[in-house]
Amino acid sequence: MPNVPVLAPSLLAGDHGALAASAKIAAEAGAPWLHLDIMDGHFVPNLTFGPETLAALRRAGLKTFFDTHLMLSEPHRYVEAFAKAGANLISIHIEPAYDHRATLARIRELGCQCGIVLNPDTPAAAIEPFLGLVDLVLVMTVQPGFGGQPFRADMLPKLREIDGWRQTRGLNFRLEVDGGIDLTTAAQCRAAGTDTFVAGTSFFKAADKATFAVAVSKL
Ligand code: DX5
Ligand code: ZN
Repeated sequence: MPNVPVLAPSLLAGDHGALAASAKIAAEAGAPWLHLDIMDGHFVPNLTFGPETLAALRRAGLKTFFDTHLMLSEPHRYVEAFAKAGANLISIHIEPAYDHRATLARIRELGCQCGIVLNPDTPAAAIEPFLGLVDLVLVMTVQPGFGGQPFRADMLPKLREIDGWRQTRGLNFRLEVDGGIDLTTAAQCRAAGTDTFVAGTSFFKAADKATFAVAVSKL
């Protein structure tokens, strides 16, 4: 039985002068998750926000599931701060050199779910040893750093490969895509086994966000 589809609007595409208001728009549209993009200006060539922003969103009354995507060269130094700030799931990239296994274990120990992320140029084999240790695998469908980039259809075989491992090994991690996702590309990813859909630009530009959320829930 495939996992039910989940929409995770990316707050990166919201109003950075009114992040709580943007997060509430996503929650009120019916999106069960909120995707929070954390960038350090080193692993990716851009900067966003930190744990204090998550804490402020919680103080503003946000109850949605915080899907926290750390695009950091040294994520192990920050997982505790994000857990304390209200993250529900913390995902870390495979590409930088640090102790991935220990960091995933630490995220769990902090009471959060954990995820592993791979960039478009990183082969699925790089994360294969971690499949039994994670709650989510995030396949980047753009080079991380910026919203509004076109979807990389050449990531579809990678999704099928990871979904195949999930099925043959009886694992039940979520399989998430991030970058260039709209209702058309989400349907392509769903057919390749994806169950969790990050949408920044397409969601925040949608005139009817509730209809967008319903459409994803029916993929
Ligand atoms: C990109 C971020 C994404 C971004 C996606 O580095 O990880 O989460 O917000 O934006 P869209 O949906 O506009 O491609
Ligand atoms: Zn992201």
